[in-house]
Amino acid sequence: MNFFDAVGGEPTFRKLVDEFYAGVATDPVLRPLYPEEDLGPAAERLTLFLIQYWGGPNTYSAQRGHPRLRMRHASFRVGPDERDAWLAHMRHAVDSLDLPADLHTTLWDYLERAAYFMVNTMDEP
Ligand code: HEM
Repeated sequence: MNFFDAVGGEPTFRKLVDEFYAGVATDPVLRPLYPEEDLGPAAERLTLFLIQYWGGPNTYSAQRGHPRLRMRHASFRVGPDERDAWLAHMRHAVDSLDLPADLHTTLWDYLERAAYFMVNTMDEP
């Protein structure tokens, strides 16, 4: 069984991203980075990416091509404050899944590393 199946498949990633974006929706640092109207499309892209990354269907790349995530974040300000806000909401979202400890750790370690990797500026806001 791959990691995708082990954590419960698509519903688990949908719940993770729903919880995460519920936090982003009211976050003063992160919310301005996203389109004014609707967080739905951004949530869908993150969901499909995570599903693909962990061994589920490759719908993300079928729709968006190669992830190239650092490149896709280049037009957004991702400094230490944005990273820490992103990780705070993601931590809450991962905790809400109530996964067994080993799966929780694997998921969290990846997300933490990925968020540090996405930082593209050290300039003060
Ligand atoms: C897209 C912010 C970290 C995955 C975006 C967008 C913003 C953003 C503003 C554009 C919204 C949209 O899709 O329309 C941030 C910030 C981060 C961060 C502030 C702080 C570190 C991450 C991490 C991952 C990730 C760690 C993966 C584990 C994605 C994906 C997209 C995206 C898959 C959609 C890319 C596409 O297909 O266009 N992010 N992000 N982001 N982000 Fe992040």
